[in-house]
Amino acid sequence: MNEKSDYYIQLNSKVEKMLRTSEFLGSGHNGIVYSLPNQRVIKIFKNKRICSKEYDIFMKTRRSKFFPKVYEHGDYYIVRDYASGERLDKYIKKHGINKEISHNIIRLIEEFKKLNFKRLDIRCKDLYLKEDFSITVIDPKNNYSKKVIYPRHLMKGLNNLGVLDEFLSTVSDENSKIYELWNFNFKQYLEKNIK
Ligand SMILES: Nc1ncnc2c1ncn2[C@@H]1O[C@H](COP(=O)(O)OP(=O)(O)O)[C@@H](O)[C@H]1O
Ligand SMILES: [Mg+2]
Repeated sequence: MNEKSDYYIQLNSKVEKMLRTSEFLGSGHNGIVYSLPNQRVIKIFKNKRICSKEYDIFMKTRRSKFFPKVYEHGDYYIVRDYASGERLDKYIKKHGINKEISHNIIRLIEEFKKLNFKRLDIRCKDLYLKEDFSITVIDPKNNYSKKVIYPRHLMKGLNNLGVLDEFLSTVSDENSKIYELWNFNFKQYLEKNIK
């Protein structure tokens, strides 16, 4: 039996009705996402507990412009804003990074601090970039459970894309303390993981 074949969830008639006009947008480890009218999407989860954890994060971030607004939810689904724009890593691969994107990434991590996240990190592929270079988080995870003091995954992603130095030069211009913390920890991480 493959993974997809046991992806069966009893949905109520309301959700089934929503799905009739929807289009498939993407899927991941935890769910499948479909577009809905009015610039919204529905994410259907395989696991009730993960759905509830993601919903809890969205409740805590509901005043933040970096996170999609949530409209309704059930045991296995969440209806939220459609994230327009392009996945950050895909955009950078094509066009490189610039000061404005770097600035918005720094502001995003600052926002994580304000929201009392323990995990000050996110993967590039969970970020969407709009035309005005503003950033939206599409898939928040473990933000309140796992302690991470600097954006290691994010920096690793930028490093793989060949734009880490350019990003860090903006960090250094904007906030030397943050630059030292991030640069020091990431260099140490690279040294430990090279062999
Ligand atoms: N708000 C959104 N707007 C547009 N596309 C989305 C949105 N949320 C998710 N997607 C698409 O659906 C895919 C799976 O969603 P995601 O939340 O990452 O699921 P998982 O938790 O299973 O990783 C994403 O990689 C993306 O392509
Ligand atoms: Mg995902």
